[in-house]
Amino acid sequence: MKIMTKPVILTGLRANNDLHIGNYFGALLPIIDMAKSHADEYEINLFVPDLHSFTTPIDHSQLQGQIMRNLKLFVAAGLPLDNENIHIYRQSFIPAHSELTWILDCFAYFGELNRMIQFKEKSGIDREKQAKEALARATNDLGQERMDELLQSTVQSKGNDKELLKIILKYIQGLTAEDARGSSVGLFNYPVLMAADILLYGAKYVPVGEDQTQHLEFARDIAERMNNKFGELFVVPEPVKKQHEFFGKDQGLRIKDLQDPSRKMSKSEASDKGIIFLGDNPDEAAKKVMSAATDSVGAVHFDVENQPGISNLLQIHALLAGKPLEEVLQHHEGQTNYGEFKGKVADQVKAFLSDFQTKLESVDEAALMAKLQSSEAQMRDKANATLLEVQKAVGLR
Ligand code: TRP
Repeated sequence: MKIMTKPVILTGLRANNDLHIGNYFGALLPIIDMAKSHADEYEINLFVPDLHSFTTPIDHSQLQGQIMRNLKLFVAAGLPLDNENIHIYRQSFIPAHSELTWILDCFAYFGELNRMIQFKEKSGIDREKQAKEALARATNDLGQERMDELLQSTVQSKGNDKELLKIILKYIQGLTAEDARGSSVGLFNYPVLMAADILLYGAKYVPVGEDQTQHLEFARDIAERMNNKFGELFVVPEPVKKQHEFFGKDQGLRIKDLQDPSRKMSKSEASDKGIIFLGDNPDEAAKKVMSAATDSVGAVHFDVENQPGISNLLQIHALLAGKPLEEVLQHHEGQTNYGEFKGKVADQVKAFLSDFQTKLESVDEAALMAKLQSSEAQMRDKANATLLEVQKAVGLR
């Protein structure tokens, strides 16, 4: 059964983390722009994958609040609630997601899910990789010199490198053993639920980050497998390469951590000092900018290699001003007073957050709830129609 309406673009808006300006420019704005610019020719499905939110442990008392807060962030960032072709819904409000997941589960192979990189990383079973990453992180945090010193002294006291490696591995296993024990069947099954999310609505285009492309490939595989076995049940989403051609790649990774500009701004950082959250107090956020790491070159240039901190601030400056980087550069290139330059960016961040938070407070919650309910009613019908075809195909109806 092919769905005969307009082609569908679908993506999940993750709920269970605090969004920061990296997410704002890398995910929220691009998704909103995409939705607005394609809504005439496509159906746009934007949903909160709330069932995916606790594949790893969370504080469940916070979940409901976070779902609504993140939806409000999208609205404050410009997501229109009055466009008939943009559907905004919560996964768990459409039970067909869970039901299709079970059916697909019985055609998904243990081996293919066991190969999923995200599962291996999050479950902690991929220890060798984690060990290497932990070492790289430690080296990054402590500096190569101190690391060498530490390794040296360990090697000396223990005799040889093999022994050292054992110690490090044991240490890291200790850190991750608990994760591995506690990793849930839901985490393993995550890609199947994601495939159900996509296939229920016959989505052709699915904009996702790099970390989700393997899951998208899995959705294609299982759709084809089912189609081969049962006839044309599902629309097979476009291959990853075509998705990239359609959406353009790489917007996500531009903003870096203020304290460690070699890494992208990301919630998983141990400290929040390098991250500007959309909910940060504007004055506190300005302080974070003022204490951003820079360099000893002493003049403003856009040089990601040698001046990653300054380059990051230039990038943030341009994004917040809505200007091309070149234009911002013209103003600041060669400027020798880092304090003054940072002050400019800090003021700008402060103004941006104040403005954004005012918008957030004035989001019309009743209108948002009405939109959710009407989208959910429509999407339930659509999803149930697909589910019924699948149930018939497998002999349940
Ligand atoms: N797994 C996605 C992420 O972590 C979120 C998601 C869930 C999703 N279901 C989806 C994205 C279906 C696209 C399509 O970002």
